[in-house]
Amino acid sequence: MGLVPTMGYLHEGHAALIRRARQSSDRVVVSVFVNPMQFGRNEDLGRYPRDLERDLRVAGEAGADVIFHPEPGTMYPPGFASAVQVSGVSEPLDGAARPGHFAGVATVVLKLLNLAQPAQAFFGEKDWQQLAVVRRMVTDLNVPTEIVGVPTVRADSGLALSSRNSYLSAEQQAQAVALSAALRAVQRVYAAGERDVAALKRAGLDTLTRDPAVQPEYLSVVGPDLRETATLTPDPLNRVLVAARVGGVRLIDNMPLLPG
Ligand code: PAJ
Repeated sequence: MGLVPTMGYLHEGHAALIRRARQSSDRVVVSVFVNPMQFGRNEDLGRYPRDLERDLRVAGEAGADVIFHPEPGTMYPPGFASAVQVSGVSEPLDGAARPGHFAGVATVVLKLLNLAQPAQAFFGEKDWQQLAVVRRMVTDLNVPTEIVGVPTVRADSGLALSSRNSYLSAEQQAQAVALSAALRAVQRVYAAGERDVAALKRAGLDTLTRDPAVQPEYLSVVGPDLRETATLTPDPLNRVLVAARVGGVRLIDNMPLLPG
């Protein structure tokens, strides 16, 4: 059995995970649960987009057999008092920007893995740090599930698909292309042989800050441990990650760094 954890409002990125799960699983379970524990006090839990009817259709068409859609009170009944704390990979980047976020993610993912007991679980590279946190947790806590990463699905413009893109106007969606453009700029400089992290970041930030409607939060160039160093040593897990706000909406994206 394969599990695809989601928070719903499914798009082609989620569908790619479900289709990937379909390839290697006899049964595909998709969870749809907007997990309150991973939202900060001032974040968008209350207005996070929801459309269960459409989710059922999209998931079914992509090959899901079962949708698991629990109530918050079922997942977190009165007296709930536990949390999974993953150190290291959960600390920089989004971990620094969103205190408690990855503890909320790790806790709900471990609960979902324990409930479904899947042979495999599928996560998008779109959330690269989340994927690293989940891999670390599963290794550390001896969870008998294989974690499978799936490449990011993008619009033709380059914008990574995200449920939160629904908060953006057409104009803001066009401005948000700056994130993927900045990542591509870093990719090009890296492929040309640049290994100095400050120079790589400058290339990305130049592109990112060209449109004043885009407010950068971080642009980081990291190795497999998600830590920034002065220079990069070649590694297939080298990555450039970005977080920025467009019209007040916080967006993230990342891309691999491959030698030219
Ligand atoms: P959600 O944002 O709904 O994403 C569910 C899964 O879809 C995640 O593994 C995410 O990385 C993947 N995904 C989202 N956009 C994608 C894209 N454009 N291409 C490929 N994969 C994409 O991530 C979460 O929910 C939650 O944190 C969750 C893991 C469900 C725990 O609550």
